[in-house]
Amino acid sequence: MMLEGLFNPNAIAVIGASADPRKVGHAVLNNLLRFKFKGALYPVNPSRGEILGLKVYANVSDIVQPVDLAIIVIPAKFVPSSLRECAAAGIRSAIVISAGFKEAGAGGTLLEEELKQISREQHIRILGPNCLGLINTANDMNATFAADMLPKGTIGFFSQSGAMGIAIMDWAIGNDVGFSKFISLGNKADLSEIDLIEYFMNDPDTSLILGYIEDVVDGKRFIEVAQKVTKVKPIILLKSGGTEAGARAASSHTGALAGSDVAFDAAFKQTGVIRAEGVQDLFDTALAFSEGKIPAGKGLLVITNAGGPGIIAADTAERLGIKLPHMTKANIDTVISKLPPNASVFNPIDVIGDATSERYAVVLEQAAKDPNVDGILVILTPQAMTEMEKTAVAVITTAKSTEKPVITSFMGAKRVRTGIDLLKAASIPNFSYPELAVKAFKRLADQRAWTEVAGEEAVACWHNVDAAADTIASILKKGVTQVGEDDAMQILTYYGFQFPKRALARTSSEAVQIASQIGFPVVMKISSPDILHKTDVGGVRMNVKTPNKAEDAFLEITSNARRIMPDAFIKGVMIFEMLKGGKEVILGVTYDRTFGHMIMFGLGGIYVEVLKDVAFRIVPVTRQNAVAMVNEIKTIGLLRGARGEPPADIDAIAGSIVNLSCLVTDFPEIQELDVNPLRVMEQGAMALDARIIFKK
Ligand SMILES: Nc1ncnc2c1ncn2[C@@H]1O[C@H](COP(=O)(O)OP(=O)(O)O)[C@@H](O)[C@H]1O
Ligand SMILES: [Mg+2]
Repeated sequence: MMLEGLFNPNAIAVIGASADPRKVGHAVLNNLLRFKFKGALYPVNPSRGEILGLKVYANVSDIVQPVDLAIIVIPAKFVPSSLRECAAAGIRSAIVISAGFKEAGAGGTLLEEELKQISREQHIRILGPNCLGLINTANDMNATFAADMLPKGTIGFFSQSGAMGIAIMDWAIGNDVGFSKFISLGNKADLSEIDLIEYFMNDPDTSLILGYIEDVVDGKRFIEVAQKVTKVKPIILLKSGGTEAGARAASSHTGALAGSDVAFDAAFKQTGVIRAEGVQDLFDTALAFSEGKIPAGKGLLVITNAGGPGIIAADTAERLGIKLPHMTKANIDTVISKLPPNASVFNPIDVIGDATSERYAVVLEQAAKDPNVDGILVILTPQAMTEMEKTAVAVITTAKSTEKPVITSFMGAKRVRTGIDLLKAASIPNFSYPELAVKAFKRLADQRAWTEVAGEEAVACWHNVDAAADTIASILKKGVTQVGEDDAMQILTYYGFQFPKRALARTSSEAVQIASQIGFPVVMKISSPDILHKTDVGGVRMNVKTPNKAEDAFLEITSNARRIMPDAFIKGVMIFEMLKGGKEVILGVTYDRTFGHMIMFGLGGIYVEVLKDVAFRIVPVTRQNAVAMVNEIKTIGLLRGARGEPPADIDAIAGSIVNLSCLVTDFPEIQELDVNPLRVMEQGAMALDARIIFKK
């Protein structure tokens, strides 16, 4: 298996091992020893002698036995030559803990480039540089300079930040959450989050993948790998860092709306990666998944000994779309016969403040076997009659007997401590507050839903690539990088978009003639390659009803444009058939430097940049993705038809989104694109305005 040498080496050389307990080179060797790594250890240091009772070698080449892994803890400038020596000695994996690379400025960046080159040319895989090392709990290998060892378990973890890694480790120890592997990625000169996600997919010791990242090295590969892995094992990622501000040209509406982080949001959604909203959320979500149970559906049964917390749980469930089903009649009857008459037996089930563990047990037993219940949340507040440990034991007994996730919220700190300790030891996730517990359950239910989504269909669309290629070639030949109206409409027409009837009038008398041909009322718009926002220069007249008005509008529009933009080249005025009814949406494309082209969808009109109620997906966008993104916006109700209005044709929007995805896949030279607005009718849709910006 790939990366075997890194995680399961038979022998390790610690290059830069030190006798000085204050040095990292000492701590690493010491950790391997004190946590009892099951393999051979060779300290390497020109000083020779002995460190921690082990013979020291002056050079890796002096070690006669085969070595699988080198851990390098020497000053940055010596690392490249050391790596070459390792490669020459047949070592195929290295952890470079040393700092002083990319993070340290120009000189460091050069050194790091050298590391990449050595990795490629000498076929040696490198973790780091500038990292904390790694831990594999299966073979008791602690190849870090951290103070502790992780408890054994099934979470595979990687972190781009060493400090976050340390925090996670401490949390894991404090909460009895077990890990299979822990990897500090450092600068990711060679091995990245993608390699580790891929490795974890086939690692039998890992059932849950957890990570902290600040960027992704290769967006397309990330999507390809993550999409495959999430179907088998959940991936929970905390992503921070939005350093791309300004990296994206924002001359289109779509570009302006694509904040630095939307691409990651989109990529995570499309690949089923669970995005943690912060450190606390990362911990909570990891905790929920650490029980190792995924619910069969969204039905959560809440048992509580207090009304308030039960209501909080129910409110949260409602907000998150989690169902609180009733148990079957037979099970409810059983519960009624065993609980006091003032208990509430629906959901939340209130066993009342004076509840003993026995009352919890009664409900738990029925809930575990009830077909309507997919998961159980046990809420407990410490009241006078509450039996802390006995209730915890009742929960544990039920949890052991069922495949359904059982989570708890024993609320408080001091008096619930003993109960929580029992729950922790039995790997039952406990949350300080009911809302956190419900949110965690929602994450579990989402994972189930994701694994049940049918495999993504191929992206198929109607298009005339050859005709579009001709049009684009002739535009680019002229050195033009932005096109509106005719050229943009022409290209989009080859990808299934429809536009209203239209023609260009160069004089006011032509305007009258064309308008009469199209039929009144018409819409008239200034036609100039230099004018991007036609309304802003008084260049659009709606609802022009008569030949006289068409003549006036022509003169008005052209003189407005000449006054406001005296240098603009004015071709004339475009006359359009005027459309009535329907809803306006915006479709767009922008380019993200990590993930490539993205499609945007939102409700159109002049408020789009204020409301920012838009959804993004990375290209290629399948029909499934397209439907999901349309349904994602908050104002979807308006498209479904509010207060007796006819619904808009959501299928037509989804089809247009897929067509745009095809367009930019066929023509990567497109940098940004706006269709604003697309007028969506009860049946079908018409684009009214379009702009395409090509890469320079
Ligand atoms: N053919 C048409 N029928 C009906 N309304 C139209 C038509 N063309 C444009 N509009 C309306 O006028 C608005 C502005 O026109 P548009 O071509 O988008 O100009 P701008 O350059 O200002 O974006 C559109 O958002 C739409 O609401
Ligand atoms: Mg427009």
